[in-house]
Amino acid sequence: MDIAVIGSNMVDLIAYIDSMPKMGETIEAPDFKMGCGGKGANQAIAAAKLGASVMMITKVGDDIFADNTIRNFQHYGVNTDYVMKVSGVSSGVAPIFVDKSSQNRILIIKGANAHLKPSDIDNAEERLKKCKLFILQLEIPLETVYYAIDFANKHQIPVILNPAPASRELDIDYACKCDFFMPNETELEILTGLPVETMPQIQVAANTLLAKGLKNLIVTLGNKGSVWLRGNKITYIEPYKVNAVDTSGAGDAFIGCFAHYYIITGNVIESMKTASLFAAYSVTGQGTQSSYPNKDEFEQFRQQFDN
Ligand code: RIB
Ligand code: NA
Repeated sequence: MDIAVIGSNMVDLIAYIDSMPKMGETIEAPDFKMGCGGKGANQAIAAAKLGASVMMITKVGDDIFADNTIRNFQHYGVNTDYVMKVSGVSSGVAPIFVDKSSQNRILIIKGANAHLKPSDIDNAEERLKKCKLFILQLEIPLETVYYAIDFANKHQIPVILNPAPASRELDIDYACKCDFFMPNETELEILTGLPVETMPQIQVAANTLLAKGLKNLIVTLGNKGSVWLRGNKITYIEPYKVNAVDTSGAGDAFIGCFAHYYIITGNVIESMKTASLFAAYSVTGQGTQSSYPNKDEFEQFRQQFDN
């Protein structure tokens, strides 16, 4: 396997809403979609749909969602030898609210994801140490994330850490042991406690993290593109303009696609541009994974922008 995703899976319950109900109020929403999600799983599926060989280390519960999630991974060719069931707990679930401007609000109930332990990494050691890249997020226990980073460092495997959802408990020393640290703008704001509305503000916030020793910081900025900061260098990648329907999972699309192209080319800027286009495709469709294109669909989409 080229890529190992050690992280979460969730079942996304997406309500498309006109407005949020007030306390005690019941209102109707126009549409609903259920699908496989979770930041880790989304990133794994994004890479797999593009042809990457991916293994997933995650945990599901013992409910009606578990087998469906495993089948979904297998359908897209993601290796599930280390997808484990935990009895007596629910699978991870994510109620998501998408408003008319296509923006999302997400609640996560971690369920079985909270049971992914350092020993689960040890169990997969032989397979993991042959991987070319690890991708990690923060929907599993922090101690497991740290253990995975130390494991990767020991075996000289590059790591992408997506600090999502943002947690101020995250030990930045561990982020510094990763090759890429990839928050979105909201996560950067929470991690630094600084405003991120303008590019100069983003740079100031980013610098506080870089000063602590981060190697490469890539911030995804939604419909404003993305930016790569390292040392005192900064590279801004323009967004692709599309008609957005549902932005949930777009950041994960970016990361999974970036990972796939980065291990093939080693070129950060080209991988960011491709990832940005892949994420743009994803926001044009409802759902998270279900809106990611496969390789052929993506190539066709790309041609529209090449001309
Ligand atoms: O990043 C989007 C994802 O966050 C959703 O799929 C949801 O499951 C939560 O993990
Ligand atoms: Na989408």
